[in-house]
Amino acid sequence: MQIRHFQNRDLADVWQVAMDSLRERYDPSLFAQLVPYWPEGLLVIEDMGRVVAFVFGVMSGVSQARVLMLAVDRRYRGAGLGTLLTQEFFRECAKKGISQVSLEVRVGNIGAQRFYTRLGFFIVRRVSRYYSDGEDGVLLLRYL
Ligand SMILES: CC(C)(COP(=O)(O)OP(=O)(O)OC[C@H]1O[C@@H](n2cnc3c(N)ncnc32)[C@H](O)[C@@H]1OP(=O)(O)O)[C@@H](O)C(=O)NCCC(=O)NCCS
Repeated sequence: MQIRHFQNRDLADVWQVAMDSLRERYDPSLFAQLVPYWPEGLLVIEDMGRVVAFVFGVMSGVSQARVLMLAVDRRYRGAGLGTLLTQEFFRECAKKGISQVSLEVRVGNIGAQRFYTRLGFFIVRRVSRYYSDGEDGVLLLRYL
C-alpha cells in the first residue's frame, strides 16, 4: 500500500471510489479541473495498482484550505486509511503555511462527523441546504 500525490491516470479509480462512497454527484470534469490549482492537495492511497482512497483539498484563502472530498473504498474502511490521508493532507497544508482547514459534512453523516472530530475538527455551524438534494451541511474547522 502506498500514499502518494494524485496523477491524471488515477482519475477513473478516484471517480469510482467517489461514486461508490459519496452521495453528492459531481461533474466528472471537476476532478480534472482541480489538478492545476494545488496538486499537492490531492492525495491517494494505492493498493495492488488501484486507488482505494483519496482526499481532494483546495486552498481557499492565503492561510486556509478546504477538504472537498474524502472517501475510502468500503472494503478498506476502519483500517486507518482515512486518518492517514487526512494527516498527510495536514502535512501538505503545513508546507504551504496553511493554518486552518475547513470542510462540510452532511448533517446526517454522523460517522464522518465522529471521524473528523477525532482528528481535531470542531463544529462551527450548520449550513442550510448545502447539498444539492436539500440536506443541510455541517461546517467543521481545524486549526493546524
Ligand atoms: C469517513 C471515512 C473517510 C473514514 O475513513 P476510514 O479509513 O474508515 O477511517 P479510519 O479507519 O481512519 O477511522 C478512524 C476513526 O474514525 C471513526 N470512524 C470512521 N468512520 C466511522 C463511521 N462510519 N462511524 C463511526 N465512526 C467512524 C472511528 O471511530 C475510527 O476510530 P477507531 O480507530 O477507534 O475505530 C470513510 O468512512 C468513508 O469513506 N465514508 C464515506 C464517505 C464520507 O462520508 N466521506 C466524508 C465526508 S466528505
